[in-house]
Amino acid sequence: MTVNNIDNLLHETRRFPPSDEFAEQAVATRELYDAARADREGFWADQAKTLLHWHKPFTQTLDWSNPPFAKWFDDGELNVAYNCLDRHVEAGNGDRIALHWEGEPGDDKSFTYAELTAEVKKAANLLTALGVKQGDRVAIYLPLIPEAVIAMLAVARIGAVHSVVFGGFSAESLRSRIDDAEAVLVITADGGYRKGKAFPLKPTVDKALENDADGNPSTVKNVLVVERTKGDVDWQHGRDLWWHDEIAQVDAEHVAKPFPAENPLFILYTSGTTGKPKGILHTSGGYLTQVAYTHKNVFDLKPETDVYWSTADVGWITGHSYVVYGPLANGATEVIYEGTPDTPHPGRWWEIIQKYKVSILYAAPTAIRTFMKLGRQIPQQFDLSSLRLLGSVGEPINPEAWVWYRDVIGGGTTPVVDTWWQTETGAIMISAMPGVTTLKPGSAQVPVPGVSIDIVDERFRTTEPDQGGLLVVTQPWPSMLRGIWGDDERFVETYWSKFGPTTYFAGDGARYDKDGDIWLMGRVDDVMNVSGHRLSTAEIESSLVSHPMVAEAAVVGASDETTGQAVVAFVITRASQADAAAHEDAANVLRAHVAAQIGAIARPRQIFIVAELPKTRSGKIMRRLLRDVAEGREIGDTTTLADTMVMQTISKSMR
Ligand code: PRX
Repeated sequence: MTVNNIDNLLHETRRFPPSDEFAEQAVATRELYDAARADREGFWADQAKTLLHWHKPFTQTLDWSNPPFAKWFDDGELNVAYNCLDRHVEAGNGDRIALHWEGEPGDDKSFTYAELTAEVKKAANLLTALGVKQGDRVAIYLPLIPEAVIAMLAVARIGAVHSVVFGGFSAESLRSRIDDAEAVLVITADGGYRKGKAFPLKPTVDKALENDADGNPSTVKNVLVVERTKGDVDWQHGRDLWWHDEIAQVDAEHVAKPFPAENPLFILYTSGTTGKPKGILHTSGGYLTQVAYTHKNVFDLKPETDVYWSTADVGWITGHSYVVYGPLANGATEVIYEGTPDTPHPGRWWEIIQKYKVSILYAAPTAIRTFMKLGRQIPQQFDLSSLRLLGSVGEPINPEAWVWYRDVIGGGTTPVVDTWWQTETGAIMISAMPGVTTLKPGSAQVPVPGVSIDIVDERFRTTEPDQGGLLVVTQPWPSMLRGIWGDDERFVETYWSKFGPTTYFAGDGARYDKDGDIWLMGRVDDVMNVSGHRLSTAEIESSLVSHPMVAEAAVVGASDETTGQAVVAFVITRASQADAAAHEDAANVLRAHVAAQIGAIARPRQIFIVAELPKTRSGKIMRRLLRDVAEGREIGDTTTLADTMVMQTISKSMR
């Protein structure tokens, strides 16, 4: 990726050791590394016991007798929601703020742990009244409003399984996720606020639940609708229910029952190398252990005094692990914000930090780079002195952005932790520990204690410093994915076949530097990373070819200064598109088509109508060459092309 190119790495050689002041008060110390090294499984067992409440203690830490199917803390029983709520109230912290919610239009609401617990108890009773039972799947399609958190915890509380679908996804994407998981209930809202406007959600749900092309109804029995924007909604009587009406009728008390540690907690769909998103399955005890452990140690959390803010939406894994489960399991006070960073003004994030005195901020490099472009004079208008730690996630953070983040947002003193992980890993795997590690801008640095990572070549040999290789996880970890929903074969094939059934292949390229620190180098497969969101080239290609105008399509992730990568498509149309104006019309129609089919995040930045695509003699599209074109570089080696002239034809047709 060019954001991490050699040029800017060479320019930034500064190192940032923890200040004495920070190190002295830090949660994580060197002993954590020693303990994990001495007895890895024992270390995780200790974390599980100290960080969580077990209704029934476990006696076995890890069952790895049938890899890659792991069981952690298998004979233990717990309730995830009880761990995130009731136990803090019972420990005397009921008056502590759990959530400060900020709506985009400027409305706000705060919930203490006692209040949030009360809301979740009612919601759990409501779900039960609607017939939702342990193991049933519930789709959640909501804006970032308190009910999103309440709904997730209520589903967890009754041992059911949530599948949160990001509110930006289309009706078709929502339906395919509902079908795959056979969800019985959808929790949605009339709409939400984004970019200063109310956007409707309920019509998308209505459309998703229509009979499909073969006349099949969906598996959904009810739709619970939160009132947010008060926009007009169509209503299907018998199916649709207002959240506020229903919740007013249920009992306020609800006793959290224990469930087995391996009870499924959620499914979260993410893009892979094929057209069909994968339902990544996470379970309860191991997941909660590692999200709580990493949230506490990587973010140096002091629940009594810190105010933590992760800017992620609950539709992504960061929103699951570091908005809902990690912070609440640790009894943290956190901020959640419904809207976009620049609404109604470009200083909105900094205003929120000032308002709630946020001390820990966790954000994505794309956002940081956008703010960098806007200039430091915007954040400088706000009091950001409450910040003491900054985190980064989702994509490589280039050293300039890292240094700007620390200097301008962190007042030149805060540590910046760059955290590498994935939907599949469930929790942070590689990150500095802010009180221990000397920070190196641009590098994710070291595995967290308890996690075993390596960078290997194709023959599974550890790579030498500065040699690129493949990132692997060499030992099971508590928050590891337990499968792909309904597709064990794909699970084994995708992650556990390249180097055998006990080595997890992450799909990322990486290298060690001479100090042994890890530098991420981007995906090695056909997965793109746009603004820290994962998109599949195959999924967008199949959307493009589903349009009658398109004969063939190839999609690449081209590097982009702000968003890391951007979607660029090359399309061969069926009819001749003779002039430039026709090309532009076709490109606009197709961009809109992809946005409608998958969601706005997948809309290509550019579509080039071309006469041919570069293919090898075996018919494989050479994306490398298309990336050269998309990034405006000189075109690389074309000798393996079936038709070596094709790149000239493409370049000509793009002029
Ligand atoms: O390529 C890596 C990149 O994001 C991918 C995972 O995407 P997703 O499952 O959507 O989860 C994103 C949030 C955890 C990885 O395979 N990635 C994530 N964090 C980093 C990163 N690349 C470089 N540095 C990171 N800190």
